[in-house]
Amino acid sequence: MTNATNNKIIRFGVIGCGLMGKEFASAASRWCHLTGVDFEPKIVAVCDAMPAATEWFTANVSSVQRTYSDYKDLLTDPEVDAVYCAVPHNLHAQIYVDIIRAGKHLLGEKPFGIDQEANRLISQALQEHPEVIVRCSSEFPFYPGVQQIVQWVNEGKFGRIIEVEAGFWHSSDLDPTKPINWKRRIAMNGEYGCMGDLGMHVLHLPLRFGWKPNSVRALLSKIVPERPDNQGGMVPCETWDNAILACDVKLADQKFPMVLSTKRIAPGHANTWFIRIQGTAMSAEYSTKNPKQIASLPYAPGGQQAWHVLDTPYKSAYSTITGGIFEFGFSDSILQMWAAFCDEVVHGNQMQQAFTCATPSEAEDSHRVFTAALESERTGGTIPISWRD
Ligand SMILES: NC(=O)c1ccc[n+]([C@@H]2O[C@H](COP(=O)([O-])OP(=O)(O)OC[C@H]3O[C@@H](n4cnc5c(N)ncnc54)[C@H](O)[C@@H]3O)[C@@H](O)[C@H]2O)c1
Repeated sequence: MTNATNNKIIRFGVIGCGLMGKEFASAASRWCHLTGVDFEPKIVAVCDAMPAATEWFTANVSSVQRTYSDYKDLLTDPEVDAVYCAVPHNLHAQIYVDIIRAGKHLLGEKPFGIDQEANRLISQALQEHPEVIVRCSSEFPFYPGVQQIVQWVNEGKFGRIIEVEAGFWHSSDLDPTKPINWKRRIAMNGEYGCMGDLGMHVLHLPLRFGWKPNSVRALLSKIVPERPDNQGGMVPCETWDNAILACDVKLADQKFPMVLSTKRIAPGHANTWFIRIQGTAMSAEYSTKNPKQIASLPYAPGGQQAWHVLDTPYKSAYSTITGGIFEFGFSDSILQMWAAFCDEVVHGNQMQQAFTCATPSEAEDSHRVFTAALESERTGGTIPISWRD
């Protein structure tokens, strides 16, 4: 199907109408922001187990024609081509597997299964249905400053890698009066805790660059042991608040340390995603703390070691109406990521630009790292990770 602009329309269903479901619907509503794309998502159906959660969609997203409270009904809707699914982690395996088996393309939220076994079920369903495009949500690599780093890595600009550090830090949990929610419960969020919530964001680029940890030593912390339950009582806050993973990366020609951190309690940090790469020929740093700035230090033997800090222009993977002098933000990254997903659904491996959303095999690899990290915390040891199978 096409629309007035001759764009190929992908009819989407959204399952899970909470924080992220709304963020995606808002991105679809401003698709005109993008220029030069020949595809467009149209949200035709939404589903939430709590029907009240769909009300915002019917009130604000004019393309929504049907609402469901049982996701299985949305999956039998013949007018849904693809699904964006944003539900608690304990539901990922069942719902993602059913979406794949229904023959719908899937952009699913991380961590792609509450644990490794759940992730394995999703991978297995995908093996049985290779005809559907399945990708894992991870939007930060679409910031223009991060795209610049991706380009530098692909061009081999860093020389020999000395060290890599990447992280995703939040701080609202520093407040002990913040009430409990599903993200602090093992049954719904999983044993991984902050790693399951934030870790795919941190691992997406290292895995894309082929920097798979050969081993991991994890330091996991629980800082706030209980939280208000909204009924006047206190309940245990069960999941890990912070995680620091010291990884050892071995490539064919080099070996370097990589420190990955996911923190819910990093004082002063609200949604700070960062990557720092030090190399013998260049170093570079990017953080969403200063979203338009990228720092780089090119180095030639005997030369000066001077950091260059540049305000990156708004130059995104998919071009937009926004002038290069303006700033890029979180909702822009969601729009760009969704464009990459739609591009792949429509054009397969002939996408308009080369950077794809995180793949199921990258999500699978992230589970190996988190599972090894839990074992490291339990045993106090450094856990080797096998990448053979
Ligand atoms: N990419 C990102 O930056 C980002 C940010 C936050 C959360 N997330 C991920 O998004 C997912 C959802 O998180 P959220 O913050 O939107 O949560 P949320 O609690 O705001 O929303 C989840 C929604 O799912 C609904 N739901 C629960 N069971 C359901 C079922 N059986 N069928 C249909 N709907 C059901 C809930 O009623 C709720 O409305 C998680 O996987 C989380 O890790 C991603």
